[in-house]
Amino acid sequence: MSLFRTKTVERSIAETDEPDHRLKKDLSAWDLTVFGVGVMIGTGIFVLTGQEAHKNAGPAIVLSFVIAGVVCGLAALCYAEFASTVPVAGSAYTFSYATLGEFIAWIIGWDLVLELALGAAVVSRGWSAYLQELFDLPTWLAGGDALPDIAAIAIVVGLTTLAVFGTKLSGRFTGVLVVVKVAVVLFVIVAGLFFVKAANLTPFVPASQPADPKNVGSGLDSTLLQSIFGVEPTVFGIYGIIAAASVVFFAFIGFDIVATSAEETKNPQRDMPRGIIGSLAIVTVLYAAVAFVVTGMLKYSDDRMNTGAPLAAAFSANGLEWASKIISVGAVAGLTTVVLVLMLGQARVLFAMARDGLLPQGLAKVHPRFGTPYKITIITGAFVAVLAGFVPLDELSKLVSIGTLFAFVVVSAGVIVLRRTRPELDRAFRVPLVPLIPVLSIAACLWLMVNLSVETWLRFLVWMVLGIVLYFVYGRRHSRLGIDQAAGKA
Ligand code: ALA
Repeated sequence: MSLFRTKTVERSIAETDEPDHRLKKDLSAWDLTVFGVGVMIGTGIFVLTGQEAHKNAGPAIVLSFVIAGVVCGLAALCYAEFASTVPVAGSAYTFSYATLGEFIAWIIGWDLVLELALGAAVVSRGWSAYLQELFDLPTWLAGGDALPDIAAIAIVVGLTTLAVFGTKLSGRFTGVLVVVKVAVVLFVIVAGLFFVKAANLTPFVPASQPADPKNVGSGLDSTLLQSIFGVEPTVFGIYGIIAAASVVFFAFIGFDIVATSAEETKNPQRDMPRGIIGSLAIVTVLYAAVAFVVTGMLKYSDDRMNTGAPLAAAFSANGLEWASKIISVGAVAGLTTVVLVLMLGQARVLFAMARDGLLPQGLAKVHPRFGTPYKITIITGAFVAVLAGFVPLDELSKLVSIGTLFAFVVVSAGVIVLRRTRPELDRAFRVPLVPLIPVLSIAACLWLMVNLSVETWLRFLVWMVLGIVLYFVYGRRHSRLGIDQAAGKA
């Protein structure tokens, strides 16, 4: 049974007060909203919008964003309840420790590395590509296919340094960049609106057609759903909208990271739900508007939609070259904050795992002056820098999505479990209609997961098996909870 030993909510909260492991509490609801928006607006909206409109959804990509936003909204309600009940660093990891037990918690912590560290590496490569485009840099320095990607390594190292110096400092830095990026997104919407043509938006839902075998391939490339049912892959139509939703889901990754800062929030019970749901609502509206404008400016079937910078392409296509430069500035600013917040989130999760003894406890030391988990932050930065600099990442963004969706499933299940096992706990925010909403959230996330490729699923399983082995070799024996329980103290 010790595999499923749970750590009580009270114990989780009490441990955050141990002097060596105490994080500073200085974030407000506003900081959290900025954090959320800061990490969400990134590669998803700047790159995937055009590509998915071109390949899968046509102008109905607007609906794909709305579907992905609704799926995330369901999960966000569950995250908000958890973060307001267990305001401790570590997000989904901590929540599962309190509900589903140590083993599942470890699995989730391990899984979150896909979302956070791998996500940071993927986005830093996108950053490097936009930087190259903005300043016409030589490709050996930035944005090239040849590795190492020096610019990607540089941004990761720079942001790691910033993260060591303090959450508040990095919060302020993020604040400035988020303003730039939101301004650019608004610019796209408002300026672009003048160039929207009804002809580009029709047909709004292009008729379903068989996928070009060149693009889809067979076997590993088809989605899990297709290969289970042996269906011929199609694009466009209703299924195209859903397939695009599971890809543009990437654009929403990040609202859950707001929950990793619960422990550094002044009033987590009130501010967490506001920060999480607020930032999600803001970006859903922005994304739908951008998707509408961009597909209205440039026909989805135009090849220029299928490039690395479709937003800029839509403006160039309308003779607005200068505007595409502005958009590149927004993308560089935007992706910087995404990388930073993903890395901060990763450090917080690993910090929580080390504090619990599932990773070496010495790693969970907080810097005496800066109040940040500096050791873990530096290790995270080094790991992300190596991934970003040296590993070919093209296919790996889907691995980021599957990892994230899996965490959403577990958190949603956790809400139902905790309501049963600890009905009396103080919940400043309660998900309405439990268990309906969490069950819908689980179903919706699973639905997006089965719309990802078989290859992605295989990579995901390999990573998880590796994590399980590690748990039995190390974490299980060094768990603080396990040791205390053995000594009769917990
Ligand atoms: N949501 C983030 C992005 O789109 C990860 O870049």
